Amino acid sequence: MRTRLTEVLGIEHPVILGGMGSGSTTPELVAAVAEAGGLGINGVSRYPAERVAGVAAGIRALTDRPYGLNLLLFMSDDAAVDAVLAEQPAVFSTAWPWPDQDLKPIFERAHAAGATVVHQVAGVEEARRAAEAGADVIVAQGTEGGGHVALISTLVLTPMTVRAVSPLPVIAAGGIADGAGLAAALMLGAEGVLLGTRFLATVESPWPEAWKQAILASDGHDTMLSEIPDIARATVWPGAFDRSWRNRLIEEWAGRENELRQRRTEIGRRMAEAKERGETDYGELNFGQVAGLIGEILPAGEVVRQMVAQAEELLGKATG
Ligand SMILES: Cc1cc2nc3c(=O)[nH]c(=O)nc-3n(C[C@H](O)[C@H](O)[C@H](O)COP(=O)(O)O)c2cc1C
Repeated sequence: MRTRLTEVLGIEHPVILGGMGSGSTTPELVAAVAEAGGLGINGVSRYPAERVAGVAAGIRALTDRPYGLNLLLFMSDDAAVDAVLAEQPAVFSTAWPWPDQDLKPIFERAHAAGATVVHQVAGVEEARRAAEAGADVIVAQGTEGGGHVALISTLVLTPMTVRAVSPLPVIAAGGIADGAGLAAALMLGAEGVLLGTRFLATVESPWPEAWKQAILASDGHDTMLSEIPDIARATVWPGAFDRSWRNRLIEEWAGRENELRQRRTEIGRRMAEAKERGETDYGELNFGQVAGLIGEILPAGEVVRQMVAQAEELLGKATG
C-alpha cells in the first residue's frame, strides 16, 4: 500500500510500530514489523549508549530494512541524542519535549546523520512547533492511545494536524488496531498509522504473557488517565497523562496522590517487582482503549498484513 509516507520512509506499507519505551519494544518486534513491510521503531529512552548500540546491532542482525529509534526528549540529553544518531537509524523518532527545549538543533543533527525526523505530538501547537523546527513527518497522537497521551481524540487531532503542517506527511496514532482504523486514518488525511497497543499483544512482544492476556481480556472501557505511575517513579512528564489499565495499583491510589508522593519509593518498588514477576495487579499496564478491539495474540507481521489487506478491501469498496 503506497502513500507519501511509504515514499519518504522507503517502506512497503504505511504501518508503524510506535517506539515504546521501558523495554516494551525489542529488536525481534521491530524486525518482524520491518520484514512485513512496515516500519519498526525501538524505544531507547534512558538506555546507556552501549545498550542503544546493542539494540541497533540486534535489529541489523535480523533485518536489512529501515528501522527507527525513539527518544522521549524531556528525559534525553545531548549524549543520548548522539548515542542514537551514532547508529545511523533511518528514522529518528521523538516525542514530549519540554516547552523551552530547542528542537531545531536536535533535528538538524539528525538530518546531518542522514535520519528522517518523525516527531509525535498530542496537540496542534506542538505540531506547528515541530514543523517549524524542521521535522519531516508529524505523528498526531490521540488520547485513546496507550502510554503517555494528552486530551484530544485521534479523530479530531489528525485532520487538524494535517491542515496545520501541510504539506508535511502526518501519521495518525491512538486507537488504531485494524484495517478499518488504517482506512479511516487515510480518509482523515493521514499518510499512515502508528500503533502501540496492538503490537503489545503479539507473539514477538516482550510483555509478560499475563500482561498480553490483560489486553485481550480488556473491553476497552477499563483504562484510565492518571499520574499515578509517574508520581511513583518521580517523573514529571511535560503535559501528559498516563493511560494504563485500571488495576489495583490505580484503584488504590486514585484520589490519594498526596499520600502516594510520600510513599513513592515503596510503591515504585512494588510496581517494578510486579513487572519483573509478570503480575498484572500492581504493574503499570500501559495500553489504550483499542484493547477493546483486540481479540487474539498474532505474529506482528500478521498484524501488518491483515491490516493492509482489510484496509485495501474497505477502501476499494468505498471508492468502487
Ligand atoms: C507501553 C507503551 C510505551 C510507550 N512509550 C513511548 C515512548 O517511549 N515514546 C513514544 O514516543 N511513544 C511511546 N508510546 C506511545 C506510542 O508511541 C503510541 O503513540 C501509542 O501507543 C498509540 O496508541 P495505541 O496504543 O492506541 O496504538 C508508548 C505507548 C505504550 C502503550
